[in-house]
Amino acid sequence: MTKTRRMLSQDIALVDVVIELLDARIPYSSKNPDIDELASHKRRIVALNKADLADPAKTAAWVKYYTDKGYSVTATDSVSGKGMEEIADIARVQMRDKVERQKSRGRVFAPIRAMVVGVPNVGKSTLINKYTGSSATKAADKPGVTRGKQWVRIRKDFELLDTPGILWPKFDDKNVGLRLAFTGAINDQILDRIESAAAFITLMREVAPEAVKTRYKIDFEDDAPHEILEKIARARGFLLRGGHLDLERTAIILLDEFRAGKLGKITLEEPREDPDD
Ligand code: GTP
Repeated sequence: MTKTRRMLSQDIALVDVVIELLDARIPYSSKNPDIDELASHKRRIVALNKADLADPAKTAAWVKYYTDKGYSVTATDSVSGKGMEEIADIARVQMRDKVERQKSRGRVFAPIRAMVVGVPNVGKSTLINKYTGSSATKAADKPGVTRGKQWVRIRKDFELLDTPGILWPKFDDKNVGLRLAFTGAINDQILDRIESAAAFITLMREVAPEAVKTRYKIDFEDDAPHEILEKIARARGFLLRGGHLDLERTAIILLDEFRAGKLGKITLEEPREDPDD
């Protein structure tokens, strides 16, 4: 077991509920299947984060997909805090039987403890900060049991570990790697920027061609992805000395604008792409 995995597993052992953040634009690619095993004996909540950047109809389809699989699911936007309350509500419902059992034995159940996990850049810290920035207070460490761990009291009966669990992305599938790069979960500097942008255009031509046409005021049908990139460069006037098109700059701007939501609310994956289906 690697050190990261061991540490994550130790943290999971301390909580009642694991909140798994997925990127709503790429729920399949941003899901690390290892968490199913690591958190198999825990209550789980799947949060489709960055839902503000995703296509609402597709987010609804993903919520249904995971609900049908037996998960508790909600869509969130960590920046505005949308969906945060719902997470706490779901956790409370999930823990109701345990709390009742304790009560029937005359004991008071300690606050529900939860932690946030997810691949890089999915919004874990933003969500935790949103919780801690609100009415939260720091809860005391329980010596011996949770040494060095800081818990944040979100509600009377709900505490959150103040550090997230970082899941490693799955790299075995080239398309998954590309989508993680498109959304910024992995550093795209390791990829050829122009090739990466061409791959993005290929995918966009399938899922939301109108978004590209509208944003850059261009038209295309069967053009090769590189030709579309050139059209964007021309439309934006990205030229190098000698009148050559600056495709590198175009590639960077295209992906930056997608990540910032300037191309619109776009989801790159449909539920049927999940091979577990
Ligand atoms: P690591 O520390 O790399 O593991 O990242 P993280 O999962 O903690 O992500 P972080 O909270 O640092 O967020 C990454 C970027 O995504 C930041 O620029 C956030 O502002 C942005 N972000 C996070 N959540 C949302 C969201 O729900 N909507 C939007 N639009 N942006 C978000």
